Amino acid sequence: MTASILDGNALAATVRAEIAQGASALIAQGVTPCLAVLLVGDNPASAVYVRNKVAACEKAGVRSLKFEYASDVAAETVFDKIAELNADPSVHGILVQLPLPKHFDENKVLEAISPAKDVDGFHAENFGLLLQGRKSFYPCTPWGVMKMLESANVPLKGAEAVVIGRSNIVGKPMAVMLLSQGATVTVCHSQTKDLAFHTRRADIVVAAVGKPKFLTGDMIKPGAVVIDVGINRLQDGPDAGKLCGDVDFDSAKEVASLITPVPGGVGPMTITMLLANTLESARRAAA
Ligand code: GUN
Repeated sequence: MTASILDGNALAATVRAEIAQGASALIAQGVTPCLAVLLVGDNPASAVYVRNKVAACEKAGVRSLKFEYASDVAAETVFDKIAELNADPSVHGILVQLPLPKHFDENKVLEAISPAKDVDGFHAENFGLLLQGRKSFYPCTPWGVMKMLESANVPLKGAEAVVIGRSNIVGKPMAVMLLSQGATVTVCHSQTKDLAFHTRRADIVVAAVGKPKFLTGDMIKPGAVVIDVGINRLQDGPDAGKLCGDVDFDSAKEVASLITPVPGGVGPMTITMLLANTLESARRAAA
């Protein structure tokens, strides 16, 4: 079997067009959706992500504000900026790009953001609401994955789903979202004893481990849906410098029924759902 490709670029374009329409309708009512992005330090990958987020805002008619700080900035400076943005009614979303330099307590920074403007969905209040199945801002990457599964009509009720990775950003919220849609969810991680035992039983596998080409075809049940959240840059070999996911695409596509590529899979959907959350926040503010 050769898997069909679940094209994140195509789905992102469709959803972003809807968001742009929503943004222009809101602008006509006098409210311009606005996202503030804070970038601290000189992590090159973070700089690229932030640049892409700002560019996506511009294309969708969402105003963006970018604040950049040196890695040795006083934490107070960043907290003061967050407080100012929290109080500014023209700002609907606040995003602090992670990771932060070591002298920051990330949880403290994330919790300084007003839950009403937490478009990343990382604040403990929003995370708790998600866990309880209540309205919150959903973290963008797992929400993007859910949209992709929905767009491909992947059945979730009663499906065996395996999430590899237990991060607060992807693995944990991913598991909760799949669970809320009726999947039977197993969360695997670096301490899992026999990973392949779990993945070979899965109708849906979501790989979010940060290890290039980690999930290989022999670990996948024939006909499974494979979602690759990884974005890794290959260090050596003939493909050095190229992006690849956590899934060994070439072997996995021979076993899976549906698979997301890297690049062009989950990545574009993450930014799309950030725009969706920002628009939703602006709508709530306008209501
Ligand atoms: N770092 C890696 N992914 C993300 C994300 O989705 N949001 C933020 N703020 N930082 C990240």
